Amino acid sequence: MEHVRAIELNGFGGPEVMALTDAPDPVPGHGEVLVEVAAAGVNRADLMQRQGLYPPPPGASELMGLEVSGVIAELGDGVSDWRVGDRVCGLLAGGGYAEKAVVPAAQLLPVPEGLDLGAAAGLPEVAATVWSNLVMTAGLRSGQLLLVHGGGGGIGTHAIQVARELGARVAVTAGSADKLRRCAELGADVLINYREDDFVATVRAEGSGADVILDNMGAAYLARNVDALADFGHLVVIGMQGGVNGELNIGALLRKWGTVHATNVRSRPATGHGSKAEIIAEVRRHLWPLVADGSVVPVIHAEVPLAEAAEAHRLMDSGDVFGKVVLRVQEL
Ligand SMILES: NC(=O)c1ccc[n+]([C@@H]2O[C@H](COP(=O)([O-])OP(=O)(O)OC[C@H]3O[C@@H](n4cnc5c(N)ncnc54)[C@H](OP(=O)(O)O)[C@@H]3O)[C@@H](O)[C@H]2O)c1
Repeated sequence: MEHVRAIELNGFGGPEVMALTDAPDPVPGHGEVLVEVAAAGVNRADLMQRQGLYPPPPGASELMGLEVSGVIAELGDGVSDWRVGDRVCGLLAGGGYAEKAVVPAAQLLPVPEGLDLGAAAGLPEVAATVWSNLVMTAGLRSGQLLLVHGGGGGIGTHAIQVARELGARVAVTAGSADKLRRCAELGADVLINYREDDFVATVRAEGSGADVILDNMGAAYLARNVDALADFGHLVVIGMQGGVNGELNIGALLRKWGTVHATNVRSRPATGHGSKAEIIAEVRRHLWPLVADGSVVPVIHAEVPLAEAAEAHRLMDSGDVFGKVVLRVQEL
C-alpha cells in the first residue's frame, strides 16, 4: 500500500499531540475524487477536534482538515464533470492534513486562473459558511445592516467582503484597534471594539438595528444579539465560543418578529435539500465569479509547512491572526 505524509493525533490535548506520520493512501469511492493536496486550511473546528471536543462525523477520515486545494490525481466511479489535472479546492468532512485527500466531486470548486493554490485552500470553508448563512439562510440584501462578530477572523474577513459586494452595510466586532482598522480596509463601515464598546448601543445608533447578525459567540451574546436585531431580523449562530446554554427572551424576539438560526456546514448531508452539494453549487454560481474577478479575495495571515502544523494551531490559539492560517503541504 502507498503512503502519504499526514498529521495524526496521538491522543487528545494541546498542539503537542499532533505528529507527522505516514498514513495509508486514501482511495476515492463512488462520486469522489482523489486530490493531490497543495495546501489545507486550518479551522477552529480542527482545534476542537484535537482537544477531543469535536469528533469527525461517522465515516469521515480521522485526520483533521476540512478544506484543501490541489490538483485532481484520480477520479472515482461516476465522476464525469472533473478531469485529472484540474486545479481545485474543496470541502471535506476530514482528512485534509495530508498529501492526498478524498473529496466528494460535488464539493469541489475550480481554482480561478491566477489564484495561488495556497490561498485557495483558505476559501471553501469560509465561502460555504458565509454564503449559506448570510444569503441562503438569512437572505441578506442590498441596503441592509449586517453585524459580524469576530470581523478579523477567517469567517469575518470573508463575510465583510461578501456583504460589501451584496451592497449591505457592515458592522464588525473585534478585539483590537489594529484588527478593526484592517476590517475597515476590507469594507466594514461600523467598527466596534468588543473589549471597550457596547455593540448593542452602537448598532442601534446606526438606525433600527442589525438586519442580520453572524454570531460566533453563542450563549454569551444571545441576549445582546436579540437586543441588537432590527425588526424581522435574523440572528445566525455559527459558533459556540461563548458557550452552548443561553437564555432566550422569546418576548423580545417576538416583538421584533425575529428569527434565531443555528447551523453548521460539516455535518450537513452530502446531497439533497440543505446539503453541502447544494451550498457549493450556490457558491459556484453566485460567489465564485466575485472570487474569479478579484472582488472577494482570500485573506491569509500565514502559510505554515505541514510538518509544523502544531505551530499553526499555536498561532490560532494565540488569537494573533487576521484572516486564515493555511498549511502548505507541497508545491504543485
Ligand atoms: N457553523 C459552521 O458551519 C462554522 C463554520 C466555520 C466556522 N465556524 C465557527 O465560526 C467562528 C469563527 O470561525 P473562524 O474560522 O473565523 O475562527 P477564527 O479565525 O479563529 O476567529 C475567531 C474570532 O472570534 C473572535 N472573538 C473572540 N472573542 C470574541 C468576543 N468576545 N466577541 C466577538 N468576537 C470574539 C476573534 O476576534 P479577535 O481576534 O478580534 O479577538 C476572532 O475573530 C468559530 O466559532 C468557528 O467555530 C462555524
